[in-house]
Amino acid sequence: MDERSQGVADLDARWARFPRDPESIIPLLQEVQETSGYLSEADCARVAEYAKAPISTVFGVATFYSQFRLRRPGLHTVRVCEGTACHVLGANDVMETFKELLGVDVGETTADGVFTLESVRCLGCCSLAPAVMVDGKTHARVGRKQIEKILSDCRKDGA
Ligand code: FES
Repeated sequence: MDERSQGVADLDARWARFPRDPESIIPLLQEVQETSGYLSEADCARVAEYAKAPISTVFGVATFYSQFRLRRPGLHTVRVCEGTACHVLGANDVMETFKELLGVDVGETTADGVFTLESVRCLGCCSLAPAVMVDGKTHARVGRKQIEKILSDCRKDGA
């Protein structure tokens, strides 16, 4: 069995617990994203085939829910909170600084594939505003100096 056939067989085994109907689309997409980090077109096509649903329905679900990513993320994911508390305390400047230093817009990944920049509505730690989460770690009351350090630390950590 070649590598691709083995991969498809593994997938069938993992997906066996999901019924083959459109109700499985969301859990299947979640499963794929957990494994691959994002949803490729081929992944969406496989989910459509398995769930016996049109590919347009699968794309519709994948684009409707913000939890799904349709592009390969960078090595590090920067989530800038733009919720009310963070907005009041300067989230806009924080976001602009990340955009400037990374050279990308929200939702984009740097050309070297190291950073993905995202915006979130609330990280659940409003007393730390303006807050940023990088790879699951929260950074409080961020300003330009701290942002430069966060990025340089990430680069030192093997990127
Ligand atoms: S609004 Fe930013 S953490 Fe809640």
